[in-house]
Amino acid sequence: MTSERVAVGIVGAGPAGLLLSHLLHLAGIDSIVLENRTREDVEGTIRAGVLEQGTVDLLTETGVGERLHREAFFHRGVYLRFAGTTRHIDMQELTGGKRVTVYAQHEVIKDLIAVRLAAGGDIRFGIPDVALEGIDSQRPALRFSGGGVARRIECDFIAGCDGSHGVCRHSLPRGTLQRFDRVYPFGWFGVSVEAPPSSDELIYATHERGFALVSTRSPTLQRMYLQCDPNDDVANWPDDRIWSEFRARLETHDGWAPIEGPITQKLIVGMRSLVHEPMRHGRLFLAGDAAHIVPPTGAKGLNLAVADVRLLARALDAFYRSKDESRLARYSDDCLRRIWKGQRFSWWLTTLLHRSESDTPFDRRRQLAELDYITSSRAAMTSFAENYVGLPFE
Ligand code: APR
Ligand code: PHB
Repeated sequence: MTSERVAVGIVGAGPAGLLLSHLLHLAGIDSIVLENRTREDVEGTIRAGVLEQGTVDLLTETGVGERLHREAFFHRGVYLRFAGTTRHIDMQELTGGKRVTVYAQHEVIKDLIAVRLAAGGDIRFGIPDVALEGIDSQRPALRFSGGGVARRIECDFIAGCDGSHGVCRHSLPRGTLQRFDRVYPFGWFGVSVEAPPSSDELIYATHERGFALVSTRSPTLQRMYLQCDPNDDVANWPDDRIWSEFRARLETHDGWAPIEGPITQKLIVGMRSLVHEPMRHGRLFLAGDAAHIVPPTGAKGLNLAVADVRLLARALDAFYRSKDESRLARYSDDCLRRIWKGQRFSWWLTTLLHRSESDTPFDRRRQLAELDYITSSRAAMTSFAENYVGLPFE
């Protein structure tokens, strides 16, 4: 058995774990990140791609924004398309300058890994068997094996940043967590398309046939989504069917059509809203998807994870600087206040734009009336915009 010691043991090298390790490093606090997948897998997983203004600002202020500022798309707002018409929400104008930044999650991950490794950070990939011990004690530890040897890292604190299927949340004693969730009767069919952008800004469309989203990744690669049955199989979706569905759902009175191109990736994801409370037990702190999940509409997942670890890094900094434990004690409550607003917004945008089999004609008329309202009342538009570009961190 080999034994090591570190201030903060972090499980998971997603956006939460990597950013936490980076923020702690800037505060002079050492950490080790244990990740079960390979670096290639972590850097190659396609997820959502919209960053809130606060996320962009934090990455920029902490020295991880250089490539983002070169390669991301910065949009003033988004389009909402319904009943054959398109309405623009100018978020930049409505929120005093905040923009919509389109930059894929795996690009954020690549930038964070690069900055950590350049600073001598300790990220260990391909560790499949992390186990937690002593989370109720002052000296919790992470156990795992590597190179055929049993290993143990003793920590002051453990950060559970290991996503929705991780090991950390399940290490809590039974009955300590309360779970709040909602599963939606639809999923997203996501495709990557080799084509130039069909639109200068994202298009969120709702149609009798269901939701569609036009997003982008680069001047030559587009990302698009269709509402689908979550239990459907990509094999049922030849390219022709995908394009005819996009054309139908995105159609406008003035004959707009998406620019088509070769489809290079197809993926179906289910949709759920989920929160576990509290986000702390003893010396274990949960952050990001390990504690809460949102449906992808509005792309809040990464941004909520960033807000969590920002608070956790500050709380740990206060602890190491001045033995002040008050921020650690408040961590869960402070996070959850903002998380629930993100949950509310993601649920609201999802139910506003998707069609459900249980919907009645009344529900559809109500959706259309709400869309008309939020694209014509400045008060309603401002509310939409401030949530979309991100509520203040504190
Ligand atoms: N041991 C070590 N690492 C693990 C384990 C484990 N037992 N289980 C999971 N992991 C790793 C995963 O492989 C992944 O790289 O933890 C990481 C968790 O990352 P994410 O799932 O990306 O979660 P998080 O960092 O909280 O990011 C928030 O925003 O857009 C959303 O859901 C999306 O991933 C996104 C999230
Ligand atoms: C994406 O580009 O992947 C994306 C964009 C906007 C969303 C969700 C996902 O609301």
